[in-house]
Amino acid sequence: MSATSSKRPLRIGLVGYGFMGRAHSNAYKRVNDFFDLEYRPVLEAVCGRDRARAAVFADQWGFASVETNWKVLVERADIDVVDIASPNDTHAEIAAAAAASGKTIFCEKPLGRNLREAEHMVEAVERAGVRNMAWYNYRRVPAITLAKRLVDEGRLGRIFHYRSTFLQDWTISADLPQGGQALWRLDSSVAGSGVTGDLLAHCIDTAQWLAGPIGSVSAMTETFIKERRHQQTGKLEPVSIDDASAFLARFESGALGTFEATRYARGHKALYRLEINGENGSIAWDLEDLHRLQYFAHGNEGALRGWRSIHMTAGDHPYMQHWWVPGLQIGYEHTFVHQVADFLAGLSCPGAAAVPTFREALATERVVDAVLRSAETGRWQDCAARRYTSAD
Ligand SMILES: NC(=O)c1ccc[n+]([C@@H]2O[C@H](COP(=O)([O-])OP(=O)(O)OC[C@H]3O[C@@H](n4cnc5c(N)ncnc54)[C@H](O)[C@@H]3O)[C@@H](O)[C@H]2O)c1
Repeated sequence: MSATSSKRPLRIGLVGYGFMGRAHSNAYKRVNDFFDLEYRPVLEAVCGRDRARAAVFADQWGFASVETNWKVLVERADIDVVDIASPNDTHAEIAAAAAASGKTIFCEKPLGRNLREAEHMVEAVERAGVRNMAWYNYRRVPAITLAKRLVDEGRLGRIFHYRSTFLQDWTISADLPQGGQALWRLDSSVAGSGVTGDLLAHCIDTAQWLAGPIGSVSAMTETFIKERRHQQTGKLEPVSIDDASAFLARFESGALGTFEATRYARGHKALYRLEINGENGSIAWDLEDLHRLQYFAHGNEGALRGWRSIHMTAGDHPYMQHWWVPGLQIGYEHTFVHQVADFLAGLSCPGAAAVPTFREALATERVVDAVLRSAETGRWQDCAARRYTSAD
């Protein structure tokens, strides 16, 4: 018997073979090479609507079989985990069916297109008692995990400010169509919202993880290009997503937050940044330099006081003992490997939850919902104000 076959299999059924389908598949394939775990993901099936394209993906990544209908996938007895990596309009329905079928569920962010769908998803997994996890992968950037440790240890002291931005520029051209393959993010009937649910959701998840719950928000959104041709019909139609979104936040701790996301920041492709200012220190991080954590400790260093730039490559940095040698950094794809590694490690510890669970991710959906409500009404909104149940 080979060394690898002694691992307990966890059979994956992946829905969607786009950007995230690749990121997740890479994580499943790599994780046991670098982490010593009792369980091993097995690439059992990939599901996409186009059989030929799904088959090419299955062949390239090593999936054993192909499905063209997720309803068949979620019923298969040889699948343990349904991994939802398809556009947002599919999440709620697939998650409900997978929960009813007793599967463990991994779901890409945002949970649903709106708070109602997200609430229903939480209800479905909790009613069925199945394990569930949302792919808020930035928590597993070693620098952000270290930031969490520093905050929890009290190194920053009381937090006064949290500021975060996520900047892109890929929708500036008025000629870009909306909807359909690769452009579903511009169609609110598929995406739910624009940059608020897409980009700010990441910023909000990290913020609440690091600095605690956001209580209320005051937001503005804008749609700069009002009409675009639909990619599939060629018809000129109103654009219904938010192109840009910015909000002020009051954390329950008393800290103040400012958040901004846009796809109209010329020159920026995926610049996710955050900064936290506390009584005793500050932390800053950005995705373009994701292997560095900037840290300022208030002390008595006199003329030598200043920010330090921590190169996150040492064995005592989170996750890093599993990779190369000190001095050599890792990147974006490793955050997904870490998330799978943590999930698999949790399977070996009875009672351990795979964070973020759907319920934890719901806290982000509540803030997203409050941001959109505030932008619409022009008033501050309480993030806990709106609740949905299965009756809604
Ligand atoms: N965690 C992150 O950093 C991150 C990054 C990008 C996207 N996402 C999320 O991942 C999800 C997918 O985004 P993406 O960028 O991979 O999209 P994508 O457009 O690259 O891929 C989507 C895939 O889903 C397939 N698909 C669509 N409808 C389907 C259906 N009914 N049944 C089966 N397959 C279907 C498409 O054919 C495609 O293969 C979204 O929810 C998005 O918000 C998360």
